[in-house]
Amino acid sequence: MPETAESDAAIEEAHKAIEMGSNIKLIGREEVNDLTAILEVSNTEVDAAVHAVKSNYDTIFTWDYEKGARPKLNRLYEKAKTAMWNGETDLPWDTDVDQEAVVVANAMNQGGLNAGMDLTGTPFALWGDKEWISFGVESQNWTLSQFMHGEQGALICTARIVENVPWIDAKYYAATQVMDEARHVEVFAKYLDTKLSGHYPINAHLRLLLDDIIGDSRWDMTYLGMQIMVEGLALAAFGFMHMLTTEPLLKQLLRYVMSDEARHVAFGVLSLQDYYKELSQAELRERQEFAFEAAVRMRDRFLQQEVFDRMGVPVKDALELVLKAPDRNQFQALLFSKIVPNCKKLGLLDAGDGWLRTKFSELGVIQFEDMAGTDEEFEMFALANGDKRSA
Ligand SMILES: [Fe+2]
Ligand SMILES: [Fe+2]
Repeated sequence: MPETAESDAAIEEAHKAIEMGSNIKLIGREEVNDLTAILEVSNTEVDAAVHAVKSNYDTIFTWDYEKGARPKLNRLYEKAKTAMWNGETDLPWDTDVDQEAVVVANAMNQGGLNAGMDLTGTPFALWGDKEWISFGVESQNWTLSQFMHGEQGALICTARIVENVPWIDAKYYAATQVMDEARHVEVFAKYLDTKLSGHYPINAHLRLLLDDIIGDSRWDMTYLGMQIMVEGLALAAFGFMHMLTTEPLLKQLLRYVMSDEARHVAFGVLSLQDYYKELSQAELRERQEFAFEAAVRMRDRFLQQEVFDRMGVPVKDALELVLKAPDRNQFQALLFSKIVPNCKKLGLLDAGDGWLRTKFSELGVIQFEDMAGTDEEFEMFALANGDKRSA
């Protein structure tokens, strides 16, 4: 028919409009990579001591106390009971940390302080070793601060899972995770206070994400946002830093935290896998959109906009350069190496018309879909018996 091409074009236009509309609805901007819009999101309550989020959800009692009705969750719970460690006594806090020396040593492992880039004509053109070292110090203060804030998010979300998940095996397991997360907040805060040189307030994109997770009344959204998305990314980020850092106390601290985090992500996958099989297409689409929104927020948070601001360079110019750095995409994609396979295991990539597969392809992270997920991997991350000082 003569009008086919025209109607195809019209359909494509309509699709685009819907797509853009949904990006605005989900992430507040049409273009995922719109740097101006990303930087407009900033933390406006940096001096506040507390942050309140309204939440409205059902607290669920269960009268079905049969332990082990969900055997995989029960196994994880038994594992968690014996895997507890003590943040005060199991880590070598007597290690001296010379933060500037660590920045230099870490940089030398990665091609030098400015990674050997030609920075003529950029905001960094006049930077010498002193500025690069001070940037490295700020960057580390920022990164560890965000880990600490994220850990508090996990503490709050898992306390809530204890309340709102309907199964006893999951309530038991989540209770052990509350203790794990308290320990994680504690050790990151102690490391920042005693070994580094300053805190940063929570990054605005991370806060938006935590607010969204906590603001949703459906119990599985707490899981999807925290256990799958935030913790999946944290596990990859901790692994990356564990591999790169030359500082022995931080290396060990991260190793301990990772042994718990691997179990936490497994908890998410094991709990949601069966539940998602029961959901309708429309319900699954909402989960796909939530996963995409979370992925974008987490990607935005890794731009470290507050560090450039504190270093006194024009943030947008600096970030345009950072985004063009040769290993940037590889680094960002690596962070998604746990999230994508876990979303696949939950059936979220291909549910309906495969909307999330398309979105993850646009973000450049779909190639991780067949990597090992974390539902079995936690055994590999477990600490050996002799690892604990107090053992
Ligand atoms: Fe944690
Ligand atoms: Fe965790």
